[in-house]
Amino acid sequence: MKNYPKYLTFSNRNNVPSVLNQAFPLPDSNTDKRYFPKNNLLYSNFNSIEYERKFEIAQFFIFLKETIEVEHFLVIPAIANLNRLNFYIPNKAKEDLYKIATDEAFHAEQSLTYLNSLKLQFQINLEDDKLPPKFIQKLELQKLNHTYEQIKELLPIIFGIITETRISIELGRFAKNTQLESSVREICLSHALDEVVHSSQFQALGEWLWEQMDDKIKQLVSASFIDALFYRNMPDLDALNLCFSFASNLPIEDSKKIILQSYTVEFVIAEMLEICEPTIKYLLKNKMVSQTQIDNRITIERDLLKNNFFNI
Ligand SMILES: [Fe+2]
Ligand SMILES: [Fe+2]
Repeated sequence: MKNYPKYLTFSNRNNVPSVLNQAFPLPDSNTDKRYFPKNNLLYSNFNSIEYERKFEIAQFFIFLKETIEVEHFLVIPAIANLNRLNFYIPNKAKEDLYKIATDEAFHAEQSLTYLNSLKLQFQINLEDDKLPPKFIQKLELQKLNHTYEQIKELLPIIFGIITETRISIELGRFAKNTQLESSVREICLSHALDEVVHSSQFQALGEWLWEQMDDKIKQLVSASFIDALFYRNMPDLDALNLCFSFASNLPIEDSKKIILQSYTVEFVIAEMLEICEPTIKYLLKNKMVSQTQIDNRITIERDLLKNNFFNI
């Protein structure tokens, strides 16, 4: 590849990043609209509006917590790590990538402010509040895996690509959902618009670096893409159970039994594949992973689910 791949910027989209506005709405306690998309599988278990509402608010609370972690522990470190890479990146591309760190710090601040307000207004009290989300814990462990010693400096970029190719689609779905509270839709829309630019820049960076790798490095990067893809995107059923237990006041084990009446292993796998569809498309298009690698990993994940959450 002679030229750096084309990518989107705020100026060529005639837009400014949301950090420049510094304005965003807070939750409205006088609305009966949803704070999280309706859960069609668990819907029949809610015997009151308050119960369902508490569940959805807890889910959005977790979503915001995860957003903060993604920004501070995945995306900003990916940008910070660009200088440590043994790969050439053109100045202009790197300067544009540096702007992402500013945007992400604002997204984290916005999420924290909204989350604090939700917590106060709706008395959200979830266990394990201080622990990082499961996927962050898994990705942190991946960094310690000796298999990837040789590509240690590339791992933050790989995590960045994995997370940035999924997020604008995910936020866009929230923004389009008319059942959701307007402040939820608004913060998700401004964030989604920023993420369209980020996703494009991370995709360009990934293609550029991939072209410069030899086959041995490519093989390691490919395996680490698969690991990170599944760590980042497998639905966190324990977090779902935590929200359900909080909303229903049921002990965690009883709450899990109810979830298991509706959820299946196949549903969880399908949900995972839907959320990371854009990431998979990107990885396959650039031959960074193969369909066989994905299929083989699904078989493993299916067994893990059967032996863990679905094993009672
Ligand atoms: Fe962000
Ligand atoms: Fe981003």
